[in-house]
Amino acid sequence: MKTFFTNLASAAALAALMFACAPTPPTPPADFIAGDSNLVNVASSWTRIAGPYIGTAGPDGSFLGAAHRVGDTTVTRTVYSRNNFVSISKDASSGRYPVGTMLVKLFRRRTDSTVIGGSMMVKRGGDFAAANATGWEWINLNASGQVATRFRSDSAAAACVGCHRTRMSNDYSWSLK
Ligand code: HEC
Repeated sequence: MKTFFTNLASAAALAALMFACAPTPPTPPADFIAGDSNLVNVASSWTRIAGPYIGTAGPDGSFLGAAHRVGDTTVTRTVYSRNNFVSISKDASSGRYPVGTMLVKLFRRRTDSTVIGGSMMVKRGGDFAAANATGWEWINLNASGQVATRFRSDSAAAACVGCHRTRMSNDYSWSLK
């Protein structure tokens, strides 16, 4: 009997210790601003969610027109995702993906796989672009895979939003599932 209670006490102590040591899940900030420090090792450490596509292959490829270098068949497009705070799943009631979600599409030269640019969507949160883009920020990346242009206001992002709004049923994204 004594052994039983001793074991019970040790089990309880162990459970308390495990609980105390469990890492606290990080909380996404009210407004998540991504920068070059987030764009390190995208291809090797983020999740590849779509592609590589060439030309009009891929979802709604024929609708792309001149966007996303679709007319240049020497280039591939591959899409990666990452969220440092929570798993990327669509909220059932709002239909939105979580703050902190980053989507990067890298353009690569087919001959040697060199990255030659990219497009990015970042779920900012707060009241960023709340009016017509549910908080997404639209960004172009340069050949080093770093931030080149931020389309900060809703209207400056019109070209991006103009197309991506056709995917409003999936919170403006093609590749997220
Ligand atoms: C002509 C329509 C069109 C325009 C304009 C457009 N996109 Fe896209 N975008 C697409 C389509 C279609 C895809 C699906 C993937 C593919 O085929 O490349 C896509 C995919 C993406 C992706 C990968 C994530 C996803 O949801 O699939 C990112 C990031 C992205 N676009 C960013 C941008 C940014 C930034 C701009 C503005 C500078 C922009 N897009 C302008 C049509 C467009």
